[in-house]
Amino acid sequence: MSRKLGVCYYPEHWPEDQWPRDAARMKAAGLTLVRIGEFAWSRLEPSPGDLQFDWLDRAVAVLAEAGLEVVMGTPTATPPRWMLDKHPDMLAHDAEGRPRGFGSRRHYCFAHLGYRAEAARIARIMGERYGRDPRVVAWQIDNEYGCHDTTLSYSPAARDGFRDWLAQRYQSTEALNRAWGNVFWSMDYDSFDQIELPNLTVTEPNPSHAMAFRRFASDMVVAFNRAQVEALRTLTDAPLIHNYMGRVTEFDHHDLGADLEIASWDSYPMGFLMDRVEGDAAHKATYLRQGDPDFQAFHHDLYRGVGQDGRWWIMEQQPGPVNWAPWNPAPLPGMVRLWSHEAFAHGAEAVCYFRWRQAPFAQEQMHAGLLRADDAEALGLVEARQVAEEIAALPEARMSRAPVALVFNYPSQWAWEVQPQGADFDYFSLCFEMYRGLRKLGLSVDILPADPARLSGYDLILVPGLLNLSAEMTAFLAETPAQVLVGPRAGSKTPELTMALPLGPGLNGLEATVTHVESLPPGAGRALTGGGQAERWIEAIESPIPPRITTEDGAPVLLSADRQSYLAAWPDPEALSRILRDLCAQAGINTTEMPEGVRQRAMGPHRLVVNYSPETRIFEDDHLPPAGLLWKLAS
Ligand code: GAL
Repeated sequence: MSRKLGVCYYPEHWPEDQWPRDAARMKAAGLTLVRIGEFAWSRLEPSPGDLQFDWLDRAVAVLAEAGLEVVMGTPTATPPRWMLDKHPDMLAHDAEGRPRGFGSRRHYCFAHLGYRAEAARIARIMGERYGRDPRVVAWQIDNEYGCHDTTLSYSPAARDGFRDWLAQRYQSTEALNRAWGNVFWSMDYDSFDQIELPNLTVTEPNPSHAMAFRRFASDMVVAFNRAQVEALRTLTDAPLIHNYMGRVTEFDHHDLGADLEIASWDSYPMGFLMDRVEGDAAHKATYLRQGDPDFQAFHHDLYRGVGQDGRWWIMEQQPGPVNWAPWNPAPLPGMVRLWSHEAFAHGAEAVCYFRWRQAPFAQEQMHAGLLRADDAEALGLVEARQVAEEIAALPEARMSRAPVALVFNYPSQWAWEVQPQGADFDYFSLCFEMYRGLRKLGLSVDILPADPARLSGYDLILVPGLLNLSAEMTAFLAETPAQVLVGPRAGSKTPELTMALPLGPGLNGLEATVTHVESLPPGAGRALTGGGQAERWIEAIESPIPPRITTEDGAPVLLSADRQSYLAAWPDPEALSRILRDLCAQAGINTTEMPEGVRQRAMGPHRLVVNYSPETRIFEDDHLPPAGLLWKLAS
C-alpha cells in the first residue's frame, strides 16, 4: 500500500505568478497530492451560466507540471450569491424557523431540490472537463456535510420533502398513526399534508415523529451526495471521496459511504479536545497541546469502516493552531508528525494538511498553514517534510483485521438524543468510552456498522447502546464464536423509537428482562462488587442467570450465558477495564496495560507506539519523549 502526503490549496486566493513557486515548494517538501476547487464556485461561474474555467485549467497544469496529483473538489458547500437570487428558498432554517443567511458557507438545505439540481449540474460540468484528465486522481464531493450544524433544517423545502418521505415510508396515515402511537394526546393525522416538522411544538414532540425526522434528514444528505455521484460516475474512473468530520453524527455515514470509493475525514485534534471531547479540566490540561489520545484513532477506525474495502484518507490535517475552538494553543513540537504517522498506522492511504499558506484575509486568518501568511515556513511544513522522508522508508504493510470489533450505529445516536432519559446519556460517549477502555489495554479495534455480514472473524464484539437488535443481529450474536458484550440500553426499542416488547434486551440464549431503567446524576454512581461503579445509567434486570458483577447491594450488572454477556449499566473506567480484561481473557486476546497517554496500533506485522502524554514514558524498555513515536514489530 502506498502512502502519500498532500495539502489543501486555494489557487484563487493567490496571484497566478505565485502558483509555480508554490507547486515547486510543495513538491520539494515531499507532498504529492493537492486538493483544490472546493470553495471556488463564485470564480468558476461568476454569474449563472458564465463558466470561467480557464484559470482552473491553468492551476491544474501548473500543479501537474510540478509533479503533483490533483484532488478536485466540487464547490457545492459554497453556493455563490447569485444562487440565492435564483433559489430564494434554498436556505436551511434553524429550529426556531429562521433562515440561515448568506455570508459564510453551507447556506443550503439538503432537501431543496432546485439547489440539489444546481449541485449536480456543476458537478457534471466539472466531470466533463476533468473526469478523464489523468492529472486529476480523485474527487472530493462538497465539503464536510453537516459542518456548522447544517444537517437538520426546518425549512419549507424540508417540510415538503418530509411529507413525501413519510408517505413513501408509511403509505397511509393510519399506518403512521399506529407506528408512532398518535392516539396518545390526540395527535392522529388524516393527511400527510397536516404533518409538520417536529420543531416549535409546545412541549416535546412524539419521539417517533422526531426519530422519523432524523432518519429523513440523514436520507437528504445521502440523496444530495448521490445526485453528484450520479453526475460524476459515468464521467470519471477516479475515486469519489467526501471529507467527514470528528463527532458529527447527524447523518448515517455508512449509508453515504456506500456511494463513494474512499472515506476521508478532517482531523483537528486540539480543536476537538477543546470542544468535542468530554473530560475534566485535568484531562484537558494534560492533553492541551497534543489532543485526546483516543479521539483521532476512534475516527480513523470508524472511517476505515465507512470507506469501501477499508479505503480512507485524512483530507485535512491540523498543521498548527486553528481559529475555531474556544481556545487555540499551538501543538507541541512533534505532534503534526505524530498525528500523521498515527493515521498511516490505522491504514490511511493519504494525509493532506490543511492548508498550504495561512490566509491573511477573511474568516480563517488566525488558522495556521504549512506556510505563514508572509510565505515563510511554519513548523507544520518542517514536520510534514520529515514525515515525507520517514514514510518513504516505512515497510509496506496491509491492514489486518483487529481482534476486537466495536459496533457503531448512527440511528442509535439519534434515538438517544431524542430520548436521552438522563442528561448525560450520550451514545457516542458510551461507544467512545468503550473504545478508550480497549485502547488502554493496548488493543487494536475495528469500528463497524451493525451488519452481521461485516462482523465475522472477530474474537470480541462490543455492542453498546444499539437502539434495535434485529432478528439477524440476535441470531448472529448467539452463533458467532466471538465473545460478545451487549448493552447497556441495547435492544430496548423498535426502529420507530417505541418500546420493544417483550421487554429487551431480547438476546437469543441469554434469558434476561430489563424491567426498568434509572439515569444517575453526577456523583450518584452505584458501587460495584470488585471495584468501580455504575454511573449515568443503570437498569433493573430480572434473570435466572447468576450475575458476574452486581452493585454492592446485589442488583445484577453483568450477566453471561455461554459467549454472550449483557451489561446493564454504564461502567466507570475502572469497572470497564476489569470487564474488558476478563472478556479478552475468555476470548484468548492478550492485553497490555499501556502507560498513561501511550497507545499502540497494529498494522499487519508492524505496530506504531505513540506518546500523547506531556511527559517521557517508558514502554517495553523504550523511552518515548512527549510526541515520541516508534514503529515496532507486532508482539
Ligand atoms: C474544516 C474545513 C476547512 C477549514 C478548516 C479549518 O472544517 O473543511 O475548510 O474551514 O476546517 O480548521
